[in-house]
Amino acid sequence: MTFHHVGSRRRRHGLIPFVEVSSPASPSTINRDATNISIRTPPPLPSPALLAVVEEDDTTVTLQFLQLQLLLSCHYTMTTATSAMTSAVQSAANPMKLKRKHAAPATLRIRCSASKSLLNLTSEASPAYYLVTCHKEAAPTTVAMPASKPDQSMQSYGARPRWNLAQRMAAAALDTIENAFVSNVLERPRPLPKTADPAVQIAGNFAPVDEQAPCHDLPVEGRIPSFISGVYVRNGANPLFEPVAGHHLFDGDGMVHAVHLRNGAATYACRYTETERLRQERSIGKPVFPKAIGELHGHSGIARLLLFYARSLFGLVDGSRGMGVANAGLVYFNDRLLAMSEDDIPYHVRITPSGDLETVERYDFGGQLRSSMIAHPKLDPLSRELFALSYDVIQKPYLKYFYFSPDGKKSPDVEIPLEQPTMMHDFAITENYVVVPDQQVVFKLQEMIRGGSPVVYDQAKTARFGVLPKYAADACEMRWVDVPDCFCFHLWNAWEDPATGEVVVIGSCMTPPDSVFNECEERLNSVLSEIRLDLNTGKSTRRPILSPADQLNLEAGMVNRNMLGRKTRYAYLGIAEPWPKVSGFAKVDLFTGEISKFIFGHSRYGGEPYFLPRDSKSLREDDGCVLTFMHDEKTSASELLIVNAVDMRLEASVKLPSRVPYGFHGTFISSKDLESQA
Ligand SMILES: [Fe+2]
Repeated sequence: MTFHHVGSRRRRHGLIPFVEVSSPASPSTINRDATNISIRTPPPLPSPALLAVVEEDDTTVTLQFLQLQLLLSCHYTMTTATSAMTSAVQSAANPMKLKRKHAAPATLRIRCSASKSLLNLTSEASPAYYLVTCHKEAAPTTVAMPASKPDQSMQSYGARPRWNLAQRMAAAALDTIENAFVSNVLERPRPLPKTADPAVQIAGNFAPVDEQAPCHDLPVEGRIPSFISGVYVRNGANPLFEPVAGHHLFDGDGMVHAVHLRNGAATYACRYTETERLRQERSIGKPVFPKAIGELHGHSGIARLLLFYARSLFGLVDGSRGMGVANAGLVYFNDRLLAMSEDDIPYHVRITPSGDLETVERYDFGGQLRSSMIAHPKLDPLSRELFALSYDVIQKPYLKYFYFSPDGKKSPDVEIPLEQPTMMHDFAITENYVVVPDQQVVFKLQEMIRGGSPVVYDQAKTARFGVLPKYAADACEMRWVDVPDCFCFHLWNAWEDPATGEVVVIGSCMTPPDSVFNECEERLNSVLSEIRLDLNTGKSTRRPILSPADQLNLEAGMVNRNMLGRKTRYAYLGIAEPWPKVSGFAKVDLFTGEISKFIFGHSRYGGEPYFLPRDSKSLREDDGCVLTFMHDEKTSASELLIVNAVDMRLEASVKLPSRVPYGFHGTFISSKDLESQA
């Protein structure tokens, strides 16, 4: 049996930790000491299930197993504070009671052994798919518990809000409206689309994990190349709370996974980025901020927005300090690691000397950045400037462009006029230009009134790319080039071709364009393409880079970052087959279309491949290694793979102490750069 913290909610008994449980192939033993509860000989639970601590006092902890709304439970008796739990299941209908012999600790620790996704509810549910290894140095999963002194016991969850009587009444009334009307009347009768169904979006290894304190001296197979010294960090979505309504993968709270590699040794840790939204929700004990993609559909989406504004009106939540999840991108700039999502300004996350992560602050560049920032800013490898966009879905200007000097001084905004708010997840730079995709996935908030999604594929719009000199003072210098029926969620690189005067853009063209956000019958295709923008004629050409026989969905990847904005021969991209899983990665010769693959193997999947160059002065563009997380859904193990990019040979694999969910984008910070970390 496995217990894994997946969230909590507030009930009259106080904060209720939820713990993931599943039936293992064989019983497992979990020991209890002063702060650890252990349970042995688990009941034959249908998985997935929840274990909830529903009541606790100085003598007893009451636990319940929950399967969705159903309850399955059993009795255990805690005999001593240090012995293993040996009681057999006594009942399948009552809560499990653990009797204390010692005072209630402020923290209940439950050690994980093996588990299956809480949310893996689909018919194709696979066998228990991950193993949280009981590594001798691995910290146990920690679940905060209510205790007799709430103000002390809630430290790891943040202080409880101190509401006055009117606020408490308002909170109760709004909770009632949420449960009775929004959930039961507006949401429950309507099945969720797959793109908003938590059972789909965070199933399997997309399911969240708990934080992990640094685990040192991890087992390594092979040899970590000596030039690799620093921290590989990767961002991802990891919802703290069970979703109460629609949930899209992109809606989850940001969590950074870090592998510190030094002198051939490896340390792993993962931590939530402590966003304002996360702190407030954790304090309240439930999700209250609207989820941009999963919840904001139709009338129920409007109702959830109104609920949020009503809670804001009574001072129960505060969205003025940012509403973003910081889960998508990472960049190391001006001595700071920044965690970003495009709905907010970045968060500064610090790597500690022990390999841990701590959130420093919501970082507005010393008061200079007053609008959200795209999660894919571009760091010019030569000038060390950071280029970025900001888009707004409600009010004009819908798009702004700006950049930062290497020491973090922001340029004035260049307002780019657009007729309608447009999704711009990524963009590109060349030596002299920024390349801005203005494509057919747009925001039409009025669609919610008609019952639809505000993220719309506008077939009447012609996709176009804007090319703006990097240091332009005004958008009138932008030259727009139509690229019909093109939607690139990401752009891998761009450069100027002096022979033709064209700007060359490398991206993956996705069809249907809105398939990541809206449920589509049509199969998703992501075609690696070369797009040429002729600034003289205003015309474009587009061609697939791979031959038809080699065609694969390629998403999530990069070129050699030392050559960003310059002509590159190679791109390293995730093989997104079967979508949305990544079964390997490809090194693609962008000139010839030749492709070399590194396939993880049966039941193994990963994410973005990160190319780490050996030396910025190396003559070979591909001289370096590809780093990527990989998870084996059969053996339940997660690893960091280090693959030689020249010959695509596995150099080393680092065995990680706990499951690493599939995620988004990463970066690498060298030990030298870390020395000057702010
Ligand atoms: Fe992205």
